[in-house]
Amino acid sequence: MEKLAESIMQDLMAELKLVTKTQELVELKAKYIGKSGRVTELTKNMRDLSPEERKSVGQIANKLKTEATDLIEGREKEMNNALLNEKLQNEVIDISLPSTKIPMGSPNILEKVIEEVEELFMSMGYDVVDGPEVEEDHFNFELLNIPKGHAARDAQDTFYIEGEEILLRSQTSPVQARTMLKGEGKVPIRMICPGKTYRRDDDDATHSHQFMQIEGLLVDKDISLCDLKGTFDVLAKKLFGESCKTRFRPSYYQFTEPSVETDISCFVCQGKGCSLCKNTGWITISGAGMVHPNVLRNCGYDPDVWTGFAFGFGAERCAMLKYGVNDLRVFYNTDLREMKNFDRKEGE
Ligand code: DAH
Repeated sequence: MEKLAESIMQDLMAELKLVTKTQELVELKAKYIGKSGRVTELTKNMRDLSPEERKSVGQIANKLKTEATDLIEGREKEMNNALLNEKLQNEVIDISLPSTKIPMGSPNILEKVIEEVEELFMSMGYDVVDGPEVEEDHFNFELLNIPKGHAARDAQDTFYIEGEEILLRSQTSPVQARTMLKGEGKVPIRMICPGKTYRRDDDDATHSHQFMQIEGLLVDKDISLCDLKGTFDVLAKKLFGESCKTRFRPSYYQFTEPSVETDISCFVCQGKGCSLCKNTGWITISGAGMVHPNVLRNCGYDPDVWTGFAFGFGAERCAMLKYGVNDLRVFYNTDLREMKNFDRKEGE
């Protein structure tokens, strides 16, 4: 019996030496210590043996099984290690090689300007609100004191969606009306609304059928042009630097009275005159004024009690001025190189 066990063991050792593949090892395992393997076979006829013989055969068989299992598993480990080492060798990373370049995005400078304006106004207690781009004539014009047939509509011809009543908003000013109507006579109203606007325009370096405006509205008691001037001053300094001066020029808008055009001193020539400011020393930034009594009334605010100011300006124009871009289309094409030009920290 012992001899048989010994010869099984020797066979196993001999065969193990020849094994090179995992599959072969699996087969070998079955052949020796599997259910009907050679080691198990040893105990097959145990039932016919006397108790003493059974004991000794059992011991031999158990010992053989343990030894065989150890051997096979040892080999299994060896092979797994070899496989792992081979894999590690093959997949070794040469950390001295230059890495592949991971393309990085750049913030769109138009967005940057809008965020800067939003942050400033939020810090002064304003809400940033939204309004629909597909708008009703009623909000885009009528409530803003621009009745049908009024000449002021000519400059704001836009795209019509359904008949003449549903259109792509030509300005963000309708959000003034929407905000006041939603405010239901409550004050103060302090909001800015950056958003897309549309006009029937041929696209060139300074015009686009779609552009961004930033609208602002404040309604409260005893609001005057001085408040507008102070607010615009803060905005101009934030966007164009502390040395920026501001001025108002009389203007005309249907929804403000009085209306102004707001200018900043030219930051290139400091007011001396250059090509950017067309030798005037000033650059126009926005339209603005005191909210027209009709507009307040149309939107549920008694003009004898409340006053307000409003302003609206083109975000692209601001970004162009601030970053020295001379073609508005840069913001809307997908050429990353253009945006990368500005991908530096401020002041660098
Ligand atoms: N909505 C005007 C435009 O698109 C700009 C504007 C002017 C907005 C005066 C205002 C304002 O709120 O008070 O030309």
